[in-house]
Amino acid sequence: MTASVVPEITLAGLAEDPYPIYRQLRDSAPVAWVPAANRFLVTRYDDVMAVERDQRVFSSVERDSLMTRAIGPLALLRMDGEAHQRLRKAAETPVKPRAVKTEWLPKFRRNTEELIAGFADRGEADLLTDFAAPLAATNLGTLLGLPHATAADILEWSQAVIEACGNYADDPAVWARNDRAMAAVDAAITEILPHLRDHPDSSVISAMLHAGLDPDEICATVKFFIGGGVNEPRDVLSVAAYALLAHPDQLEDVRTGRTPWKAVFEEAVRWVSPIGMYPRQVTEDVELGGVTLHAGDRLGVVIASANRDERHFDRPDAFDTRREVRPHLAFGGGPHFCLGTWVARTSIGEVGLPTLFERFPDLSLADPDAVRMTGWVFRGPVSVPVTWHH
Ligand code: HEM
Repeated sequence: MTASVVPEITLAGLAEDPYPIYRQLRDSAPVAWVPAANRFLVTRYDDVMAVERDQRVFSSVERDSLMTRAIGPLALLRMDGEAHQRLRKAAETPVKPRAVKTEWLPKFRRNTEELIAGFADRGEADLLTDFAAPLAATNLGTLLGLPHATAADILEWSQAVIEACGNYADDPAVWARNDRAMAAVDAAITEILPHLRDHPDSSVISAMLHAGLDPDEICATVKFFIGGGVNEPRDVLSVAAYALLAHPDQLEDVRTGRTPWKAVFEEAVRWVSPIGMYPRQVTEDVELGGVTLHAGDRLGVVIASANRDERHFDRPDAFDTRREVRPHLAFGGGPHFCLGTWVARTSIGEVGLPTLFERFPDLSLADPDAVRMTGWVFRGPVSVPVTWHH
């Protein structure tokens, strides 16, 4: 069968609220050509899993990839097979559960407490800009091993590369900002490599260096970590905090220990997945969801929709930390499964969120109606204003 074409979907509509659109697609056209996105959107859980299971047919190497242009040909997420595995393995040891627990958890705790101490007296804050964003950036700088980069540097580099990866309008100012940011990342890495050669440490950069990657490979992989490791932890913290404050009964269960923080984290990434869609390219003719796809076709793998698929989750649109645990796809699947999963679970689920709610027992939303989410490729709140008595 050929795919349905859905011309009425607009990018503005997806950014505003993609979930009713995804529901319709899942029901009537689960693999649909969406002209506004210039790709076939895959929206059902089982079809997303089928894509993830077959890297040979559903490749991460995309023609005219903006990510490749932004980061260079060594961008981890636009590689397949052995070339990809080689880079991934070199970066892997410091982000495995054991290293995260022994090495990074105490440092994430210290970063969290220092940040909270900086605004605790104010009685009001925007959780997104005052807490979640600088926390994600500081933790990432610690993990990578970039001692001279400030949270502001990392946030700027991250924003610059993310905008470049979405620069479909080919705006020269966006490319120029990205070029400046990527040059600054190269300089920060070049500065520390000579020291790390003789003094290995537990950081990701040190691990890659001593696994034998050359400086170009290290720089490209770090750029990818910077593009992919800030917004997602920032957004899941903001979404989870907002959702708990908007559901006081569920917050009460967490405070009394009836619901573990782990369940809050996993439900928040399922409910509003920080990465909503990622691309794949078809390498040979294949059937997916009853639709015939051809070599060269471009897909948008919509994990945000798979995570709300009613064929897989009961009442998928509800934020419910007590729901039956079922595997979600917020971290992807297959060979590109998120390398930062344990870093995010620990830095946000085990440290960031619990510390915030312990430190401010009467935290509340300044205006529940003011919290607006935006985006579909990446999705999260625009701001989360809160107040407390100190
Ligand atoms: C809640 C937070 C996070 C979410 C929801 C998330 C989600 C994802 C997803 C969906 C992918 C797969 C994309 C694809 O297949 O095209 C991915 C890949 C990746 N993520 Fe995350 N991520 C998060 C946090 C992080 C953090 C904190 C880091 C860095 C410390 C990180 C580093 C990476 C890397 C390096 C990859 C590429 C892996 C590869 O290509 O083999 N992520 N992430």
